[in-house]
Amino acid sequence: MEKTYTVVCNWKMYFSYNQTHTWIETHKKDLISLANQSAQTIVLCPSSENIMQIQQAFEETHVFWGAQDCSNKNSGAYTGQYSAQSLKELGCTYCIIGHSERRIYQHETSELIAEKLEQLLNSTIIPIVCVGETAHEHNQKATNITLKNQLKPLLDKKKNNKSPWIIAYEPVWAIGTGNIPTPAEIEKAFTQIILLSTEANISPLPQLLYGGSVSSETINNLKQVNGCDGFLIGGASTDFQELKKIVLLL
Ligand code: PGA
Repeated sequence: MEKTYTVVCNWKMYFSYNQTHTWIETHKKDLISLANQSAQTIVLCPSSENIMQIQQAFEETHVFWGAQDCSNKNSGAYTGQYSAQSLKELGCTYCIIGHSERRIYQHETSELIAEKLEQLLNSTIIPIVCVGETAHEHNQKATNITLKNQLKPLLDKKKNNKSPWIIAYEPVWAIGTGNIPTPAEIEKAFTQIILLSTEANISPLPQLLYGGSVSSETINNLKQVNGCDGFLIGGASTDFQELKKIVLLL
């Protein structure tokens, strides 16, 4: 049977409200037919203020959407945050958490990210948790240690919840740089993630995505990776023609 992939578009803060509107107006029809004709699951993750536009455009189509973050709290006096419950009400099927840009710029810890994981699981949103080592850790051959440290609090929270979840392996040094790990390096990271999850008695085991410089140029190489359930795509996913090329190459 043909393999099907989950293709997650992380639009980061690339588009303003008006730019999102223009993107939708320009590409809506073509994206809907791409999602109809392709076996792949296509997920748009715009910045939070633009989720409602995406919901209105793609409701009752085969295009899915999600958020790039959520609060670690349920509700209450948390200025500037938004809850998993709101995301659910906005039709989000998925939510990215723990992206390295949030770990770096917002100083998010793995413990905080684990609390967000719990919020999403409680709201039946599929979490896409990002993990991955820095260039320094990669050079030190410390990827497995980094993954273990990042995963520990997540696995503790996931233990008692049987909902589906996704882990995206995104080496920090591969994001936006054009440099990608070898298929063997990605497989090694995937093996470590599955090993740690199995040891922690996690069920179901996470689906696995790769992220970092995915493009129509790199996708054929990345497709070689065993055990890969999909891709988390940043820059390349903002260009519809490029996104289409990637989807059609899968
Ligand atoms: P990139 O970003 O595809 O632009 O490298 C991926 C990500 O940060 O999720």
